[in-house]
Amino acid sequence: MLGSASAAREERKDRKAGASRVEEARPQARCTMTTLDLRRVARHDALAPIDLREVSAIDLEAARTNWKERMVSEHASARVFGELVGGMMRAGLPAEETYRVADMVRQELDHAGLCAKVLVAIGVEPVAELPELTHVPGHEDAASPLEAVLRNVISVGCCSETVAVALVATERELAGPRSLRRVLDQILRDEIKHSRFGWRLVSRLAPSLSTRERTSLDEYLVDAFAHQVRFHAAFLDMPCAGEAGLAVGAPHGRSNWLVFMTTMNDIVIPGLERCGLAAREAWREVVSVDRAA
Ligand SMILES: [Fe+2]
Ligand SMILES: [Fe+2]
Repeated sequence: MLGSASAAREERKDRKAGASRVEEARPQARCTMTTLDLRRVARHDALAPIDLREVSAIDLEAARTNWKERMVSEHASARVFGELVGGMMRAGLPAEETYRVADMVRQELDHAGLCAKVLVAIGVEPVAELPELTHVPGHEDAASPLEAVLRNVISVGCCSETVAVALVATERELAGPRSLRRVLDQILRDEIKHSRFGWRLVSRLAPSLSTRERTSLDEYLVDAFAHQVRFHAAFLDMPCAGEAGLAVGAPHGRSNWLVFMTTMNDIVIPGLERCGLAAREAWREVVSVDRAA
């Protein structure tokens, strides 16, 4: 998963404000609405209906919306990893890493299927409109093949997937029904792999960047971090569910924002600094602009 489902929805609304990275990539020439229908997938190894009597109507609606948007966002994440494969091939990265990313395409599709099963278990048809699926930027005009792939790997693996690990782990802690915990366990296991993939590639490849490539990548970090802040700022407008709602996946907006900021400050920024990138300076620039706005 690349970011929270509700945050993704808000981000789409803000898309016109400026474009910088994966989720804001080149618009397609023609926009056609597609329906994602996972009813058949949900029927296979279906989850038993979840007892929702303790959940308030507002929190239940929030949980249903969250799981439906997550289904869409997990499904859409599959094409991000699919497109990463091409960039990795162009940069001549080791074949075993390319195989792993190809597996991640399937894992994200499976996550969407798991969300579909949860939706049925909480009384919702797993059918939704898919948003426009933008392309992952190739960065061909601005970066060498190596820098281009690192831009996307930092954005996807080190930022989005690392934040996703923290958010899903928090949600898993709060989950009540055993079937929901199992779903979140499986998603979490894969998101950890996706995050580790990012950190492994950046730590191995960043030392071989030329000075010019490194400077350019450092400049790109401002864009990547600004995207993360815009994307996750949607949490601040989200409601905060009660305990019974949180147990079935209704979000707590303020806590989610705190998890995002803590992950960026304590894990992502120091991690990229250890890889020799000027992440702290880029983050400071983004956060200070955000405060001034
Ligand atoms: Fe993922
Ligand atoms: Fe996922």
